Amino acid sequence: MGLLEIADVSKSFDGRKVLKDISLELQEREFVTILGPSGSGKSTLFHLIGGLLNPEQGSIKLNGENITGKRGFISYMPQQPSLFPWRTVLENVLLGQELHEKRDVEKAVAMIAKAGLSGYEHSMPNELSGGMKQRVAFIRALLSPQSLICLDEPFTALDGFTRIDMHQWLLSIWSEFQRTILFVTHNIDEALFLSDRIIVLSSNPATVIYEVKVPFERPRKSNLPLENEFLKVKKELYEAIGGA
Ligand SMILES: Nc1ncnc2c1ncn2[C@@H]1O[C@H](COP(=O)(O)OP(=O)(O)OP(=O)(O)O)[C@@H](O)[C@H]1O
Ligand SMILES: [Mg+2]
Repeated sequence: MGLLEIADVSKSFDGRKVLKDISLELQEREFVTILGPSGSGKSTLFHLIGGLLNPEQGSIKLNGENITGKRGFISYMPQQPSLFPWRTVLENVLLGQELHEKRDVEKAVAMIAKAGLSGYEHSMPNELSGGMKQRVAFIRALLSPQSLICLDEPFTALDGFTRIDMHQWLLSIWSEFQRTILFVTHNIDEALFLSDRIIVLSSNPATVIYEVKVPFERPRKSNLPLENEFLKVKKELYEAIGGA
């Protein structure tokens, strides 16, 4: 049994089918990426997993329990880093825990330090750069008690330099904390660099068209995207997407 089991999920908006018969399974501690074109329905899939929307068909299970249409079972970082502007960095980071009534300030401060944000605990979000805000939102997701973290294109708004740093940072945190991550992106290099497994969606309506187990060893080196083995898997992915 997987940690997350999505079986035959479909969703339409105004009679237009966006997701069609989506099935996928996540094992505990896996890093899986959903790769799909803009508008294909990736965020919609996350809204379904998070119980913000109900599918018209299919079921979603977490640890064998049916969570279809139920909220609060996953930790979710939305596409825009939604920090509360009137709360400090520390107060924002603690929010996910507050909702579950167990604040652990010490752990939060340690995580803020790990993210390279020591000294910013009491800063307000508008004093931070885009990359810093992303890190705060990510720490909040990580500190929430749920076993599954869903990250919706967390790095899309960042420049290339910051994005490479954030990839390394995310992987180092993930390997230390051993959580299960479901990640969404439309960036092929990012998907290959980060994941254990990639699931490719088509669009109109989205179906699973390809799945690949990423063969690169961990920890991943920063020059991996220049290696032949990387380019080979990337080529296969391009062909799979081109044929969609
Ligand atoms: N609440 C809604 N009501 C009506 N249509 C919606 C709603 N949410 C999403 N859609 C439509 O569903 C389709 C998929 O949207 P979604 O946001 O899931 O795409 P996405 O893959 O996340 O795109 P992007 O990569 O640009 O974030 C789009 O055509 C969008 O207009
Ligand atoms: Mg989206």
